[in-house]
Amino acid sequence: MLNTKEAIEKRRSIRKFKPDSIPDEYIRELLSSARLAPSGCNAQPWRFKIVKEADAKAKLAETAHNQSFISQAPVVIVCCADIQGYLDGTVSGVQDLGKIGAIEDRIVTVLQGKVKSLETIERNELGPRIATNVAIAIEHIVLRALDFGLGSCWIRLIEGQKVRELFGWNDNIYVVAILPIGYPAEYPEARKRLELNDVLID
Ligand SMILES: Cc1cc2nc3c(=O)[nH]c(=O)nc-3n(C[C@H](O)[C@H](O)[C@H](O)COP(=O)(O)O)c2cc1C
Repeated sequence: MLNTKEAIEKRRSIRKFKPDSIPDEYIRELLSSARLAPSGCNAQPWRFKIVKEADAKAKLAETAHNQSFISQAPVVIVCCADIQGYLDGTVSGVQDLGKIGAIEDRIVTVLQGKVKSLETIERNELGPRIATNVAIAIEHIVLRALDFGLGSCWIRLIEGQKVRELFGWNDNIYVVAILPIGYPAEYPEARKRLELNDVLID
């Protein structure tokens, strides 16, 4: 098993997959790791759809501007934010955090005010605001996948509305990204990264 540093350094975006299927228990493990991600007020708005059927994967690839490699992965995880789930989870999460004293009463009051104001915001604006939480959960999946020899690639170049139509979802579901996942049939060179100095702001 890789330690965190090794996983971070070894990870690559994988766009070629072997056809081998992934055991269901591996997928469950990945989702369990996603579940443990931190989220604002512990609201846990992430929801996942596991797609294995060839036809659905091909249609998903179409929603991603025909990035055809997506349909070659044995599994594609559609990673979403549940907007009502977020609103409900925030209310109970703030209460829980206040009760155990993790956050001060003063902050509980500020957060409760924020939650009230969220209810007046249009759903299509809330989705992108919640997406940060889901992104962290997705990256848990990406890194944990390496423990099983699996590779993946974040896909954000998608038409969310088309994904919703494909699965019959309403605007309560905001599609954050899709994640094709499988055994790598390539191991790309590390992509260029900025130097440490370049990521610091004076
Ligand atoms: C938010 C996000 C969106 C991305 N969207 C796509 C995408 O639509 N298609 C794709 O092929 N790669 C996509 N990528 C992968 C990036 O191109 C890749 O992470 C970057 O080039 C660095 O390469 P590496 O992941 O191998 O280190 C995305 C990555 C992230 C984090």
